[in-house]
Amino acid sequence: MADADTLDDQARAILRGNDRGGYTVPTAGLYPYQWNWDSMFAAWGFSTFDVDRAWTEIETLFSAQWDTGMVPHIVFHKVDPGYFPGPDYWGAGRTPPSSGISQPPVAATLARRIFEADPEAGRARLGGLYPKLKGWHRWWRDCRCPTGVAVVTHPWESGRDNCPDWDVGMARVDGSNVGPYTRRDTGHVDPSMRPLKEDYDRYLAILQFGRACGYDQKEILARGPFLMADPAITFILLRAHRDLAWIGRELGEDTAEIEAWATDLEAALPYIWNDALQSYDARDVRTGTFANTLGSGAFLAWYCGLDRPAMEARLKAVWDGVRYGIPSSDPAAPSFDPRRYWRGPTWPVVNALIAMGFADAGRSADAERLRRETVALIEGAGFWEYYDPLDGTPCGGPDFTWTAAIWLAWASPNARGN
Ligand code: GLC
Repeated sequence: MADADTLDDQARAILRGNDRGGYTVPTAGLYPYQWNWDSMFAAWGFSTFDVDRAWTEIETLFSAQWDTGMVPHIVFHKVDPGYFPGPDYWGAGRTPPSSGISQPPVAATLARRIFEADPEAGRARLGGLYPKLKGWHRWWRDCRCPTGVAVVTHPWESGRDNCPDWDVGMARVDGSNVGPYTRRDTGHVDPSMRPLKEDYDRYLAILQFGRACGYDQKEILARGPFLMADPAITFILLRAHRDLAWIGRELGEDTAEIEAWATDLEAALPYIWNDALQSYDARDVRTGTFANTLGSGAFLAWYCGLDRPAMEARLKAVWDGVRYGIPSSDPAAPSFDPRRYWRGPTWPVVNALIAMGFADAGRSADAERLRRETVALIEGAGFWEYYDPLDGTPCGGPDFTWTAAIWLAWASPNARGN
């Protein structure tokens, strides 16, 4: 088992090794482009040893911001045939080429952390970023909060691609007419760890709808094949609005508008409270149907300062049901699959966010337990994409950027506790 200093060195080497010049790829092979929230975690990791490089990572990501304010989920800086669907398939027609959907808005929260750790190095960079962040948050407000809480128009937009939360919405998507295509992901990792073909058919059908309407957001909201309220993005956005307001105040800006976005979002939360489940829950906006699932998305409630006593029993059952970390979905549910991507595995990067929520809520024992369990995974197997929460088996891609990044910024015994 490697010691903390050795793992710190390895983690820094992974970030450097995945650096493609101003941006990092999540892992060589499987994910050869710049991903939105991965890059924000990469920046957080870089900030522990190269703060200039951290800000550059964020600036490169925001250089792909659309004129609508959206920051895309993938930026295709250099074409790589090893990934599908690539820039031509998305057909978004932007420079630099990008996908046509977004990803969880952790940017304001992590930019604030990076700034707070070194305000002098960050003030000018944060000032340059602020209007872009505000533009993106406005896009979330206008294009993704039609009923109040945040919705996703594609499972990939949630960052938790195939979690059971989306099953009710995906069941209504017709994937039978997507035409021929060749997946690349299953050539890089064991197919038993990846989403199924029937999932991929539907992912592509939803993508094709967006492409056909030129990513017209009104059309997607009104008639898109998939539209689900996402507790995780809602919680992430709520915290991000507050952190963006904090940043604005720090820069001497008038933040009343941003504060109003946060107030409105918080007021909308009852829509995703599933009384029968006694938990926050994903919900199909077209039908009103709840997903009836428990998992890491709902447990981000503490991350935005919520404290619903009923959630305690849910958290305990799910967390105590596995050995390592908080699983992406309920180990007692029939859909649980401990190695298939978001259908059960534990993801260090999500553990880091949940622990941030625990720490801020004064639940230091929970924060420390989650950190220790995550450390055990990384000490045991190295920096993988995600892990089996029952036995710690490493899964997905190796030398993974965001796992290395959260090690440096949060999990390592040497982390400065930021
Ligand atoms: C997968 C994950 C997503 C991540 C991406 C790159 O699509 O579900 O959250 O951003 O891979 O790591």
